[in-house]
Amino acid sequence: MSFLPQPHGGTLIQAYNPNFDFSQIEKKLEIDVIALSDLELIGVGVFSPLKGFLGKADYESVVENMRLTDNTIWSIPVTLPVSYETASRLTVGEEIKLSFDNEVYGVITVSEWYEPDLEKEALQVYKTQELEHPGVKRLYERGPVYVAGEVTLVKKSEKGIFSDVWFEPQQTRALFEEKGWKTVVGFQTRNPIHRAHEYIQKAALEIVDGLFVNPLVGETKSDDIPADVRLKSYRALLENYYPADRVQLGVHPAAMRYAGPREAIFHAIARKNYGCTHFIVGRDHAGVGNYYGTYDAQLIFSEFSEQELGIKPLFFEHSFYCTKCEGMASDKTCPHTKEDRVILSGTKVREMLRSGVLPPSTFSRKEVVEVLIEGLKENAAV
Ligand code: ADX
Repeated sequence: MSFLPQPHGGTLIQAYNPNFDFSQIEKKLEIDVIALSDLELIGVGVFSPLKGFLGKADYESVVENMRLTDNTIWSIPVTLPVSYETASRLTVGEEIKLSFDNEVYGVITVSEWYEPDLEKEALQVYKTQELEHPGVKRLYERGPVYVAGEVTLVKKSEKGIFSDVWFEPQQTRALFEEKGWKTVVGFQTRNPIHRAHEYIQKAALEIVDGLFVNPLVGETKSDDIPADVRLKSYRALLENYYPADRVQLGVHPAAMRYAGPREAIFHAIARKNYGCTHFIVGRDHAGVGNYYGTYDAQLIFSEFSEQELGIKPLFFEHSFYCTKCEGMASDKTCPHTKEDRVILSGTKVREMLRSGVLPPSTFSRKEVVEVLIEGLKENAAV
């Protein structure tokens, strides 16, 4: 008997078929890197119960109510944008090859296409229409028409340096079972793991059997630390500071939306599909700039029952190292003042790392910082 949660919607979607014969399909649609990642995530079940890119009714329902039309909780539209010109050549019911760099990765059966209300999508999903918001900017750049339909994944992307930490939900579920974990907490990050992240991960691990460190390695904004550099830092950290039998590293190859609260729900659902029973939501989860309140991404969970969501969020307050406490703490546990706390903004830390300045070990582990500085130097040299 499995203790792991049922996939979202009840069934783990498996839409991968490498033997699918598409030789008779002529039409081809070149998709962007985000659609490619969405295609693969649908294909291997990370986005269960989605079987394809959203149709109009589901899209509108998700934008409006954070639910699919069958009432399943779903907070971020997963859509396939195309130009008006491309849309004018589509026919309902036809199959089209989906290619990236001229390589076919999938096939979509077109069920419909429609013009989205981008202003509404921006306001509802991202809570802003400002183009300075990276998610909104991308939304407006990506295209005026959405094509909908079920997909078949015919080819998986090259995993490169991620190959030993790239797991599909079926695999993570098997791994967790093998380890005998009945409860597993998932951790999302798009950053290197600093002391505050480590603190909340380990605090969570105190009450569950296993920790799934699941950094997002899909498309991020250009000033975030690149995923290949981050990966080396995760390996260094886990090797030196985490018990191997309690922690599993695996990447989440999704694009970052920066949609704060709505994305926290989206992130939690993906982790449920990977087999996690719990999910960490800390300070300003999936936030960017000042678009969301510090704890908005926690508050949004109160709109759904834990039973319906099917994964338990674990909330953490803003954490930091306190020189008076001589340890990691949060507002909840530390009575001291700002002056005693080591708090650096993400932007400041990235600046320090890029110019080769070491953030203090109270902020980030020495092994992590060294790998990051080295990796960023190598990247800059390329
Ligand atoms: S995110 O965009 O992936 O959410 P980040 O990698 O910074 O950004 O955060 C990963 C997780 O750690 C999120 O749940 C976030 O809320 C949490 N987090 C990040 N920094 C802190 C902190 N100092 N204190 C508490 N939680 C934090």
